[in-house]
Order: sequence, then structure tokens, then C-alpha cells
Amino acid sequence: MLTLGIESSCDDTSVAILDGDKILANVVASQTIHKKFGGVVPELASRQHVVAIDSVIKEALSVSDKSLGQLDLIAATHAPGLVGGLLVGMQAAKGLALGSGVPFLGVHHLEGHLSATFLTDDPVVFPHLALVVSGGHSQIILAEKFGRYKLVGGTRDDAAGEAFDKVAKILGLGYPGGRYVDERAKLGNPTAVPFRPIMTLKKSGLDFSFSGLKTAVRNYLIDNPSLDEQGVNDLCASFQHTVVEVLVRKTTSAVKMYNVPAVQVCGGVACNSGLRTAMRAAGAEHGFSVHIAKPALCTDNGAMIAAAAHRRFAISGQSPMSLSPQANFPLDTL
Ligand code: KG4
Ligand code: ZN
Repeated sequence: MLTLGIESSCDDTSVAILDGDKILANVVASQTIHKKFGGVVPELASRQHVVAIDSVIKEALSVSDKSLGQLDLIAATHAPGLVGGLLVGMQAAKGLALGSGVPFLGVHHLEGHLSATFLTDDPVVFPHLALVVSGGHSQIILAEKFGRYKLVGGTRDDAAGEAFDKVAKILGLGYPGGRYVDERAKLGNPTAVPFRPIMTLKKSGLDFSFSGLKTAVRNYLIDNPSLDEQGVNDLCASFQHTVVEVLVRKTTSAVKMYNVPAVQVCGGVACNSGLRTAMRAAGAEHGFSVHIAKPALCTDNGAMIAAAAHRRFAISGQSPMSLSPQANFPLDTL
């Protein structure tokens, strides 16, 4: 089964071609225009997708040495995300499908993230709990089987990646900031700044909240205006430690509540070195397996969309050409 997957829901234009779950090509064009604004500007993102999409598709076909007529399925993210970007990817996919007679399928972005480990030699097993942590989402999902999901916990305000990005912005570390905070945290002391643990299980169940912690970082900087390099490293390490602790603690509690054997971590924040290490340690301690794709498959990419697409196609067939992009679309209503 040859699947072409397009991802354009945020600021990456990506096209991949899979043979089954074997990646033949996974081309990612990341937009840099948003750096100077410290966040994604939706209208600029849409325009950049328009500029990039044709050449990214051509490159994926060329790298994989395949032609359109050889494909079995052409898929694109249809929800959730920035509507302008989704529209570009979907129109490209529909156009290719119409022109070549290959079926078209719209894919849910989070089902894409949930499918990233299928592309590794350590694919997640069902049932499992998925911690989906990205720039736009922070959720704990019970995945009973492919296509059947139940949202069991989530953020009440900022997504985890958003909190990383905002803290990086306050500290002037660059955008998107998660990886800069991660790099700084490696050089710092995680107990240097005693942030209060956020959202206990008793108070908030499996939900979490990050906006209070972000404000605590801002207040700490007001009280300590002239932090040296080590001070910034310590602040990053303490912030990251607090976020990771709550994510791992709540996921571990969910494993016990739902009695599942496995956990996967996906979405851009799954690149975080502290989270990867802490979740693996929790798995070893509490007896669940932990599956995390390599970082390039955790951030947005076309390969995860194609991996979700051929599985979804086997369940529900192709999408109508009338399918339109949607900004919000809960995964458990799929
Ligand atoms: O999944 P993704 O590429 O896009 C969305 O669907 O949102 O995730 C991007 C997010 C950004 O917030 C980025 O800062 C964060 O993932 N991120 C990280 C790391 N690498 C990327 N956050 C923490 N540590 C990292 N190493
Ligand atoms: Zn994403």
C-alpha cells in the first residue's frame, strides 16, 4: 500500500510517502518567518504553505522514486489546526487525487501523532494510554484500539508546548522555544527554583494546567531581574522538571486507573529529553512499556499522517471531496 500524506495544520509543510509503514520519503519544510513574531501568525503560515506545497510534493515523489499513478491513497490533515493551512494541504491532496484517480482521505491531526510509533521498530500496542503533548494540545487519551479513543485528561489552559514556548519567549531564548528550554535545562539544577507542584490528582483528576507556572516564571524574573547564564539554566531546569513531573505523574495514575500495559508519548513535546527519560523511568518502576518515536517523527510530519491514513482507510474508506477543514474537532468524536 503506497500512501502519500500531507501535513499543513500549523507551520510545517510536510509530505511523505509510505510503502506500508516503511518511510520512502518524509520531506518537512519548516517555516521560519514566525520567529520574529515569537509565535505562529496564521495568515503568514497559510501563504507559506501555498508557496511550499508544490515543491515539497515533487521532492517527496522524487526521493521515493514514485509517480502519482502508483499511489494507492492520497491523504491530508483535515482537522484540527489553522484553517488556512489545512485548506492548502487538503486542496493539494484533492487536486492530486482527482487528477490521478487515487482515493482521497482526510486525517485527524492527533490520530497522526498517535500513529508515529507505527513507523518505528517499537510500535505501541493496544490498549494503551497516549500522552499527546504539542504546541496546540495536551491530552491523555485512552486508545482501546486504532480508531477508538477516549479523552481521559487534558489541559485546562495552555498546551504543554505553548508553556515551553512562552517561557522561552519571556527568557528571549528563541522560537519555537521548547528545544531551547530543553538544552538550557540540561545545564541547570532542577531543584534550584522551588516551583509549587501543579494540579494535584486529588484536586484536578487527570487534568493539568500550565498557565500558573508560566506566571510563576514571569514573577521569578521580576524578583530576579539580572539572572546570569547559570541562573537561566537553573530556571529552565526547574520549569521543565515541574512540567515533566505533572505529565508523568498523571499519565502513571491513568495507567493504574485504566489498567493498560503500555504508554506512548507523542507530539512535539515528546522530543523533550527530560520527559523521555522520566516517562521511561516511570514505566520501569510501575511496569508499563513506554513507546516514543524519534524526535523527527514527534514534531509535525507527513509520515505520521500517512501512517494514520492507511489504517483509517481500512476502517472507513475514502473521504468525500466535500470534506472541509475544521479548526476544532475532538478526537473522540471521530
Ligand atoms: O507537534 P508539533 O510539531 O506541533 C503541534 O501540533 O503543535 O509541536 C510543536 C511544539 C512546540 O511548542 C515546541 O516548542 C515543542 O513542540 N517542542 C519541545 C521540544 N521540541 C519541540 N518542547 C519541549 N522540549 C523539546 N525538546
Ligand atoms: Zn502536531
